[in-house]
Amino acid sequence: MEKYWIKSPIDNQYSGALRFEKNISLNGLVSSANLLVSAVGLYEVLINEQKVGDRVFTPGFTSYNKRGIQYQEYDVTNNLSVLNTIAIMVAPGWAVGHIGYAGNEKIYADHMSICAKLIVTYDDGNTEEFVTDSSWSVYTSEITFADIYQGETIDKTHNPQLLGLSVNDDIKYKLIKDLGEPVCEHEILTAKLLTTPKGEKVLDFSQNMTGYVSLKIKGKKGSRVKLSFGEVLDKDGNFYNENYRTSKNEVMYILSGEEDYFKPKFSFQGFRYVRLDEYPLDEIKVDGFRAIVVHSNMDRIGNFSCGNEKINQLYHNIIWGQKSNYLDIPTDCPQRDERLGWTGDAQVFCRTAGTNFNVRKFFDKWLSDLRSEQAENGEIYGTCPETKGMTSREHTRTSAAWGDAATIIPWTMYQLYGDKKILSDNFDMMCRWVDYIHSAGDKEFLWLNGWHYGDWLALDAGEDSYQGATSTDLIASAFFAYSTQLVISAGEVLGKDISKYRELYQNIIKAFREEYLNDILSYDLDINQEIDILGGRITQTAMVLILKLNLCTEVEKALIVDNLVKLIDYFGGKMSTGFVGTPYILHALSNNGRVDVAYKLLFNEESPSWLYSVNKGATTMWEHWNGIKEDGSFWSADMNSFNHYAYGAVGDWLYGVAAGIKIDEAGYKKVSIEPKPDRRLGYVKCSVETSYGELVSNWEYSGEKIIFDITIPKGVTANIKLFDEHTQETGSGYYHFEWNCQDLVDTKLS
Ligand code: BGC
Repeated sequence: MEKYWIKSPIDNQYSGALRFEKNISLNGLVSSANLLVSAVGLYEVLINEQKVGDRVFTPGFTSYNKRGIQYQEYDVTNNLSVLNTIAIMVAPGWAVGHIGYAGNEKIYADHMSICAKLIVTYDDGNTEEFVTDSSWSVYTSEITFADIYQGETIDKTHNPQLLGLSVNDDIKYKLIKDLGEPVCEHEILTAKLLTTPKGEKVLDFSQNMTGYVSLKIKGKKGSRVKLSFGEVLDKDGNFYNENYRTSKNEVMYILSGEEDYFKPKFSFQGFRYVRLDEYPLDEIKVDGFRAIVVHSNMDRIGNFSCGNEKINQLYHNIIWGQKSNYLDIPTDCPQRDERLGWTGDAQVFCRTAGTNFNVRKFFDKWLSDLRSEQAENGEIYGTCPETKGMTSREHTRTSAAWGDAATIIPWTMYQLYGDKKILSDNFDMMCRWVDYIHSAGDKEFLWLNGWHYGDWLALDAGEDSYQGATSTDLIASAFFAYSTQLVISAGEVLGKDISKYRELYQNIIKAFREEYLNDILSYDLDINQEIDILGGRITQTAMVLILKLNLCTEVEKALIVDNLVKLIDYFGGKMSTGFVGTPYILHALSNNGRVDVAYKLLFNEESPSWLYSVNKGATTMWEHWNGIKEDGSFWSADMNSFNHYAYGAVGDWLYGVAAGIKIDEAGYKKVSIEPKPDRRLGYVKCSVETSYGELVSNWEYSGEKIIFDITIPKGVTANIKLFDEHTQETGSGYYHFEWNCQDLVDTKLS
C-alpha cells in the first residue's frame, strides 16, 4: 500500500476537502471485493456517489509518528456495478489541520495524501487490482474549508476544478491495521428555537454533546446559513462561546437553490446551543436542523438509577461526558483548542468508563499508541497521541498522575475484563514507567522536585489556582508507590520475577513515611485555628491519597480519616479536591468507616460539589467546580470546559459503593456485593453486563424495611455483605433479603 500514496501539489495551500476519483469498469461477475484505504488527513470513500461503510473520521487519530496511520478495509462487493466511479474525499483532519493550542497546525504533515487498493475477485476466480496512481484525477470539492477546530464550509454552488496530481508521495508514516472501535453517528437530536435578550436566534438541542448539525433546506442559490456553537448561555441568557479559545467552530452552508441536505464530514463541534448568524429564509424552519451525536462505538454494559432525580441527572451527565469524549481517543474535552488524549484525564475516568461501556477495544488501541510513544528513558507524556508544538518542548510534559496512566489503565482494564493479555501487552511499559520515576527524583525512593500538574483545578489554593494546594512532591511520590504496587500486582498475575519491584516498594513506603507521614501523624489538626498546611501535606487530597493508596498502616488510617473529615469540615463541609483527589475521596471515606461523610459530599449542592453543576442545569460534567459561579458569571474563559469527564469518576463510587458491586477477582469472577443504602437515594437499581452474564444489585427502602434483590450470574462467586453483621458467600442465583431498619446497628445509614 505504501507505494500508492498520491496527492495534489496544491495540498499544502489548501484547507478544503479534495476529491480524488477514478472510473473503473469491471470485466465479469464479482464474487467479492475489498477496498483498503488510508489518508494523511481524514477521508471518506464514495462508490457511485454512495458512502462506503458507516464510519466517520477515518483513518482515526493514532500515534502517527511512532506507530503509524491506520488503514481501513471495507467489503465493497455490494457497492460495485459494471461501471463505477470511486471517489475519495480527503480533508486536513488531525494530521494536517489545527491541533493543540496557540494556533498550531500541520503538526504531523504539511499536506494531505491518500492511498487505496481495491481487490476484486471475479466468479471465475480471477482477481483484478485497482490502486491509487497517476490514472486518478483530483478536484476541488464543495467542502471548501474543513478543520476539526475551526469548522467547515460546504458550498453547493462550487464548480469543481481539476488540479494537478503527483504520485509516489514520500510519506514517512507507516500504514498499520485498524484497531479499536469505529467512530460512527449515534443519537439524533431535535432543537427548539430561542431568541436571546440580545435578539440572537439560537437553537437549543437540550443536551451538551459532540457531533455536528445537519440541515435540510431550500433557498435562493448562493444564500448562506452560518452557524456558531456554544455549550452554555451567559448569565443574561445570551449566546456564549469564549471558552472555545482559538477554536472557531464555525459552520457555513451555501445553498444550491434546489432542495439541499448539509452535514459536515470532516469537523466536529462540542455544543448544546447553535447561534444562527446567517439564515436566508423569512421564517426559521427549526425542523430542518438536527444534531447528530458522534462517538466511538461502545456497548453499554453498566446501568445505575435511583430515587433521587439529581443523582440520576449526575449519572446522565457522566454517561454523556463519556459519549462526548470517547471519539477514537479519550479526550479531555470536545470543543476548545485541545480535544487531546490527556493521559491524566484518561486515567482518572477509565474505571467508570469501563463499567458504563465496554471500552476494552477502545483502550487496546490507545494503549498501543501510549506504548509506542513511551520515551527511551520510560517517560510517558501528558498527551497521547503526542502533540508537538503544545509547549516549547517536542511534546507535552511528563507529570505524576498523568504518566501513571501507563500502569493504572492496563491494570483497570484487566480488573474489568479479566484478560491477562491486557497485562502482558503492557507490562513492559508499566515497568519502564516505574523505572523512569525511580531515576527522576532527587531522592532515590521519592519523586521530588519534578514539575507536575498537581491536584489540577482544586480550589484549596484559591480560586485562581490551577494546581491546588497539595504538595506536588507528595502526589508524585504517592503515585510512585501506587504504580510500583500495580507493577507488582501485574507481575504476580503474569508470573514474572518482580523481586526488584517488591524491594523498591518497601523502600518507597519507608521513604514516604520518613518524608511525609511522620509529620502528618504528629500534626495536631485543630480546625478552630488557621491550619498550617505544611507545604501542602495537610490537605484533603494528601489524606485521600494516603488512605486510598494504602500509604499508612491500618491503625494509622483511623487518624488519617479523622484528619480528612476535619479538613472537610474546615472547608465548610465540602471537598477541596481537584483531578487527583476527587476520584478517590468518597472511596477513601467509605472504605474507612465514614460512608456517612461520603454521602454528605455526594449530596452537597454548594460548589465544589457534583450537584452544584446539576443545579446549574449541566447536562455533561464540568471541568471546573464553579465553571458558572453562583451569580451566573463564568470562572474564566481560559480553562472552562462544560464537557470534561474527569469528575465523572464518581460514577465508580455509585456502582461500587452505593450499589455495592466490587470486583474481588479480575473480570468479575469473584465479587463482593456490599451495598450502602441511604434513605436520600430511596432506591438503587444497578446492573453490569459481565462476560459471565448480568450482575444485579438493587435495593429499596419500603416503609421500615430495606429490600435487597441481587442476581449473580453463572460462573461468579459472590460475597454478599449486607451491613457488617451479615455475610454470605454464594454462587450464582437470585437472592432476596428484607431488613428491618430498626434492627440496623449502623445508625449512620438512616
Ligand atoms: C486539559 C486537562 C489536562 C490538563 C493538564 C488541560 O488543558 O484540558 O484536562 O489534564 O490540561 O493539566
